Amino acid sequence: MKKGLIALLLLAIGTAGGWFLKDQVSQEVVIVDAKQGKSFTGGFDASKESPAQAVAGQVAQRIDGKTIAVKPGQSIQEAVIKAQAGDTIQIWPGEYSETVYIDKDHIRLIGVIEAGQRATLDGKKTLNDAILYSGNNVVVENLYIKDYKGNAIMGQAGNNFEIRNNVIKDTGVYGVFPQLGQNGVVEHNVISGIEDAAIYIGMSDNVHVAHNDVFDSVAGIEIENSRHAIVENNYVHNNTGGILAFITPGLPIKTTYDVIIRNNFIDNNNTANFGAPGSTVSGIPAGTGILVMAADDVIIEDNIISNNKTAGILITDHENAENITFDPGAEPNPDRQVILNNLMLNNGYDTIAPVKALMAASLKSGNPDIVAVGGGEGSCIINRHRYVAVGLGDFGDCEITNTDGVATYLLDKPVPPREILESERGMIAYLGVCTGCHSYTGRLIGPPIQTIQALYIDNPQGLAAYLAEPIKKREDYPEMPPQAYLGEETLLAVSKYVLGLEN
Ligand code: HEC
Repeated sequence: MKKGLIALLLLAIGTAGGWFLKDQVSQEVVIVDAKQGKSFTGGFDASKESPAQAVAGQVAQRIDGKTIAVKPGQSIQEAVIKAQAGDTIQIWPGEYSETVYIDKDHIRLIGVIEAGQRATLDGKKTLNDAILYSGNNVVVENLYIKDYKGNAIMGQAGNNFEIRNNVIKDTGVYGVFPQLGQNGVVEHNVISGIEDAAIYIGMSDNVHVAHNDVFDSVAGIEIENSRHAIVENNYVHNNTGGILAFITPGLPIKTTYDVIIRNNFIDNNNTANFGAPGSTVSGIPAGTGILVMAADDVIIEDNIISNNKTAGILITDHENAENITFDPGAEPNPDRQVILNNLMLNNGYDTIAPVKALMAASLKSGNPDIVAVGGGEGSCIINRHRYVAVGLGDFGDCEITNTDGVATYLLDKPVPPREILESERGMIAYLGVCTGCHSYTGRLIGPPIQTIQALYIDNPQGLAAYLAEPIKKREDYPEMPPQAYLGEETLLAVSKYVLGLEN
């Protein structure tokens, strides 16, 4: 045993020494001038859809309507009920404690900021969600949202959304969470204190996430099971993990590709992980700047990535990730990663044991800026000599050196509303509403779905009735909020869906 170890050590010293010597006499390195190289033109082919617009910004279709003012003491929800497509709901500074459901198209919810005072939606740590929209062309701007338990702003299958200039603090599981949407912007928001992802783009397409300040959360910005996304010019700091591009297994849409992460400040994401036990994000090692898991065609360019103790960039497949159950429908490897110029400073200085082991096995010394583990092919990097990197053995030199040719993946014309198939209705309600509090196997805010299935097997009607008017059953759980607003048909659909779930 011992002898073997010593032999191995000698080998290590020999090889490392060889490398050292070689380095001393070595020629100059090849420095790639990114601006002189080829620009990226692949990714989303907007010409096949409609031409990409020159500036990111307005994607919600504007139609003229009236303005409805809401003042403290009045209800935002009542204004939404009165509103018609095209109307703007103006919310005056003051406190509002409610959940607002927007199930209509073309509604603009605009806070009035007067002398620095904002309209404040306060969940008082008792309400679950602040704003839930399922309409298209919805705009939510200028609000201060705090102390909810589920989501600040969540969208379900709404296209052409604009979520802008909101301050969001301690709103539970997610901050801004558009799900199943196409063509949307999330910009200029300040979001903190979120137990899962502060900005969570879920199962969506053509999104632009820019100029946000995101901190003190488990995951800063997460692009999950989504395509054609640009994440740029954000300040992402003091989270557990900064910017994530993921395929999360077990969801009905199973790909993430064509993601550009550029020009962000990604600093000091070393906050101890406080994610719900068993959740995907609870497996993120504290100190991760950018984390790519199984996503393809991710371009990482011109970010300033500093002071993240595990690694600046961590790229992994599903097999090597924590808390992941394998999904036969999802391709588990991160393919075609493109790492262009990034400024990396003081990362990896207190990394996790598996990375240390990988470094040792690869005879690498120093603190890792970039770590790649597991499968994946077709990846590349420029100016690799700048970084301490491990696992990049099969990364080639990139042909493209910048993304200057791609301004946005947003679409020039608003896309039509998503057609929700009858068969999708239960799934969408489950993902959008129930998964905030229930997971398949473990306890979240409510009991596991497995427990629920055992109680209601063959009785979707009984389950639907409970959802409409839940009664308190368990001493050690909070009350479940009534879901009657979903409507009888959706309640039955979600009940059937839940009883048929297998993971
Ligand atoms: C805000 C969190 C929350 C949301 C959202 C939520 N639940 Fe619950 N659910 C709970 C809690 C907490 C309990 C435990 C209540 C108790 O036992 O008193 C519970 C209990 C249940 C039960 C157990 C009923 C029984 O007879 O014991 C079922 C079934 C259920 N939820 C289904 C759902 C479904 C389906 C959805 C989505 C439409 C949903 N829940 C959304 C929190 C939530």
